[in-house]
Amino acid sequence: MNKIKKIISKKNKTKIVSLTAYSKNVASILDNYCDIILVGDSLGSVLYNYKSTREVTLNTMIEHSKSVRMGIKKSLMIVDMPHNTYRNPKEALKNAKQIMKKTKCDGVKLEGGKKIYETVKTLIQNKIPVMGHLGLLPQSDKTFKFKGKNKLERNNILRDAQLLEKAGVFSIVLECVETSLAKLVTQSLNILTIGIGSSKYCDGQILVFDDLIGLNPTNYRFVKKYANIRNDISKAVLNYSKEVRKIKFPNKKNSY
Ligand code: KIV
Repeated sequence: MNKIKKIISKKNKTKIVSLTAYSKNVASILDNYCDIILVGDSLGSVLYNYKSTREVTLNTMIEHSKSVRMGIKKSLMIVDMPHNTYRNPKEALKNAKQIMKKTKCDGVKLEGGKKIYETVKTLIQNKIPVMGHLGLLPQSDKTFKFKGKNKLERNNILRDAQLLEKAGVFSIVLECVETSLAKLVTQSLNILTIGIGSSKYCDGQILVFDDLIGLNPTNYRFVKKYANIRNDISKAVLNYSKEVRKIKFPNKKNSY
């Protein structure tokens, strides 16, 4: 069974664990625990302080993905296609092929539904596995609010999820989708839903790693901080600075 079929076969059996990584060292730790590692274009805001992910370039995604690739042995590695790199099927295919070739990833992620149906189909027909992304869409939404508040929004998300499944995606990230809608979408599909801020009913969960370890100083409702790495780093750097100033570091052991 190939990697994609294998992961889909986990639906209704075991939850899918997924996190973002932007570099080799982090990816090599996550690889021990994750099913999917995503090189997310969230790196634009997390690492580069961009106002939105729209500023992220193809080259930036490729360079970070090359680093992440070196840290992964077993997890599925998916790379976000940045804004304006998949405006039509031809452009998407050219750029996705470049991502696949240069990063040796297992697939790409695109945001959107009906609008990108033909594009997604083209990628899949060319043997490029695709992960969809519905609900809150950071590359195109003006405001960041949860989705599924009204009937129209709910119907569109369900329709888009079914369309993406028909196009052949193996999974769909549901970002900030209201609980009962996330449940309905998950139950109505044979492929995987991976939730972020979209309840326990999704087939799996994803978080931005820097949020999970408390490195990224943000406070979103959907994030649970499993560590406070900022504190640990502060303590370590404080000790280092004290020792340098007191000429305790480097000592003989650290010298040649
Ligand atoms: O860019 C990203 O990191 C993402 C995840 C939050 C799903 O798309």
